[in-house]
Amino acid sequence: MESLDQRLVSSWFHGHSSVPPTYVQPLESRPGCRFMSPSCMSIPVIDLGDRHNDRADTIKHILKASEQYGFFQVINHRVSKDLVEETLNVFKEFHAMPPKEKVNECSKDPIGRCKMYTSSENYEKDAIKYWKDSLTHPCPPSGEYMQYWPDKPTKYREVVGKYTQEMRKLGHEILELLSEGLGLDPSYFHGKLSKNPQVLQHHYPPCPEPSLTLGIAKHRDTSIITILLQEQDVQGLQVLKDGEWLRVDPIPNAFVVNIGLLLQVISNGRLVGAEHRVVTNSTMARTSVAYFIYPSLKTIIEPAQCLLNNGTTLPMYKSMPFGEFRTSFLAKFPKFEEELRFK
Ligand code: OGA
Ligand code: NI
Repeated sequence: MESLDQRLVSSWFHGHSSVPPTYVQPLESRPGCRFMSPSCMSIPVIDLGDRHNDRADTIKHILKASEQYGFFQVINHRVSKDLVEETLNVFKEFHAMPPKEKVNECSKDPIGRCKMYTSSENYEKDAIKYWKDSLTHPCPPSGEYMQYWPDKPTKYREVVGKYTQEMRKLGHEILELLSEGLGLDPSYFHGKLSKNPQVLQHHYPPCPEPSLTLGIAKHRDTSIITILLQEQDVQGLQVLKDGEWLRVDPIPNAFVVNIGLLLQVISNGRLVGAEHRVVTNSTMARTSVAYFIYPSLKTIIEPAQCLLNNGTTLPMYKSMPFGEFRTSFLAKFPKFEEELRFK
């Protein structure tokens, strides 16, 4: 059997002028143009800058975007442009390293939370493979796990350490706005609900037949929220809105934020964990960096009590520790969401 370094799309795609059959999606999942929205439609943009800082207004916008789209972009977020650039560069340098070295750098964690993979986390089970290589690891503010992160390129730990700290601050800021909008305590998400952040970084090499493949299948994130950094010049992310795929075109110095399934549950269905996917293109590699806000495994995920109005509003979802939520989601995807809902 092939080893992981041989399986990485970045290891072999150069030699191909067509897509191997195992990467060809069935007709109904291909990124054809049929359901493409007009390019004038896009997800909302939220300005977090001081100049426009009418807080009540920002809360109104962010809540509306989260109810209607489950996706928005934030601008004027105060994360340093240089740090963002350095972060993208360090990941690009990582993927430019020899395949064996990449895999070695991601194989230090004895229980495999820091790892590299190709296609999806379930490569063996993917009947049809996805056109990407990924690397992931926890990034808690304590610095725990850092000894298992790659230390090549040499600046990896320094840069990714700084970047994930900035993501934590930005995540809290966004969650405070959402909490206030929902009527929750502003610090509702600051404790165990955001204790286990994880970074997931994707590399999508150019693909000779983008109309046949996908980089990531249609999915919802199992996070509270996700903050995504995407490269300036390469499009790929699409969001499902009212049965149509909307392109998320990169805008300068912005992050894409999306509501995860956990926040959909906690808000009792008011905010939507929207479905999204990634398409490939034939000319340029694409780099993206997702920062997922996850709870600790024992945290109970359920509609917030205070949103149930002293029992007068019925909960739409069952209660479950996050650990069980994750395991069931992976084992039962895509049926899990139905099971989670009270009939
Ligand atoms: C994800 C995701 C989008 C992207 O990692 O869950 O949706 O653009 N990534 O890479
Ligand atoms: Ni996602």
